[in-house]
Amino acid sequence: MSLRAKLLLPLALIGILIAGYLYAFWIPRTLAADEVAHLKGVDQHLNSVADTLIPLMLGNQLDILYGNLNSLKHDNANWLDIRLVNAENKQLYPLATAAPQAPATLPDARKVERPIRYLGERLGTLIIQVDLAPSLANTRKEIGELTFLLLGMLAALMLTIVTTAEIMVGRPVRQLSNAASRLARMEFDTPLPKAGQDEIGELVKSFSSMRDDLQGNHASLLLEIAERKEAEEALRQLNETLEQRVRSEVAANRDKDHLLIQQSRLAAMGEMVHNIAHQWRQPLNSLSLLISNIVDDFRFKTLTEETLVHDAASARRLLEKMSTTIDDFRDFFRPDREKTSFDVAAAVRDAVFIVEAALKSNRIEIALDAPPGLTATGFPSQYGQAVLNLLVNAKEAIQEHRKSGGSIRVALKNEAGHAVLSVEDNGGGIPEDILPRLFDPYFTTKDQGSGIGLYMAKMIIERNMDGMIAAANIENGARFVLSIPMEIPS
Ligand SMILES: Nc1ncnc2c1ncn2[C@@H]1O[C@H](COP(=O)(O)OP(=O)(O)OP(=O)(O)O)[C@@H](O)[C@H]1O
Ligand SMILES: [Mg+2]
Repeated sequence: MSLRAKLLLPLALIGILIAGYLYAFWIPRTLAADEVAHLKGVDQHLNSVADTLIPLMLGNQLDILYGNLNSLKHDNANWLDIRLVNAENKQLYPLATAAPQAPATLPDARKVERPIRYLGERLGTLIIQVDLAPSLANTRKEIGELTFLLLGMLAALMLTIVTTAEIMVGRPVRQLSNAASRLARMEFDTPLPKAGQDEIGELVKSFSSMRDDLQGNHASLLLEIAERKEAEEALRQLNETLEQRVRSEVAANRDKDHLLIQQSRLAAMGEMVHNIAHQWRQPLNSLSLLISNIVDDFRFKTLTEETLVHDAASARRLLEKMSTTIDDFRDFFRPDREKTSFDVAAAVRDAVFIVEAALKSNRIEIALDAPPGLTATGFPSQYGQAVLNLLVNAKEAIQEHRKSGGSIRVALKNEAGHAVLSVEDNGGGIPEDILPRLFDPYFTTKDQGSGIGLYMAKMIIERNMDGMIAAANIENGARFVLSIPMEIPS
């Protein structure tokens, strides 16, 4: 039901009730009161008529009586009928011979009877029929006008209320509802009714701010959707290229590993050549001496077959020693094929042997305490390589830190089922700030260093042999500890 109908219905109901009250109660009551007033007037009139009739009836002056009544009828046009009966109810006027009067059928015709008495005795009765219509006409007209005015006012009131409701509520609400349904289609530019100071104005203001919020949210939602689509597209593209990228990353990593291994090999070879040179220094000196002796013997004619054979034998021995050195070195650097059970002390000794000559020529003492009988499973050559890296680092620290009195202490111990090797030097120790980065690949503080020695050692000990490597500072130097699990005797 529309708002207009809702407003009109109670008003129409009130109108009907008012009209009903007017027609059912007020109008009849007013007319009845008017009628009573008129009849009272008629009654008073009849009183005076009756007073004039008494002497005529007593004197039986019927002619005058008829004349009076005739002129009475003539003077009162709304008196439809006048009759006079005597005490015996015999009609005196109009004459009984006259044709009887037709009974009045007019709606406002009233019968008034007035007994005529003289000294308490009834002489007769005057009966008249009065048409009250002309007397009531004015009242009826007034009632009609009043009713018309009332209903007119009611209609005007209804019209005013409906028009006001239409202008103040209906139209703006329709506009708002239109804007709301267009808002549902995400149209934000529908014109809104002017916001007044009333409740509808409040509604318009709330709607407008809600629409602004919605517009803002909608805009950010669109933005988010666009961003999401972009991200999805990027993700899709990423997914498409991911496999390719993973492949190329893996390849790049493999290349890096290769490079690392290559660098490590080069470093090891450099170390080997360096150490061979140290190992060969003494036999080369001896050979040189031997050759000088042979040349001198020949020059001073003291060269005999015996001395030549002796010197040649010495030279061959020296050369064999040099050759063995190369073999030893080659063996040391030969890569392990597979895990084997090995003597840890022997591996340590081999590593010490490799650097021994170089240490001696730098006047660095080395003390080795490696009791035999500690057996581990793993890669002996790799283990030896790790120990060698520690020894070379110790040597380099001492060379850099002090002119003389360098010493390295290597000790192997069995600690709770682990072969624990400690390598201590008096090369000044490791600066505290670099301790956490010591085992990082390519970390070096040396001009010629590659920074992979300790990284390789860590890989070998921790990844390949389930062991542990640690570094700490001691008085005047550094201590490195290698710990690998020992073989459980079967
Ligand atoms: N015994 C030590 N005393 C003091 N510093 C050390 C010792 N051993 C290692 N360091 C420090 O740790 C760094 C890393 O050592 P690492 O063996 O990994 O590389 P590097 O010796 O510099 O180069 P290279 O790859 O030739 O071995 C060294 O540069 C040095 O600063
Ligand atoms: Mg090193």
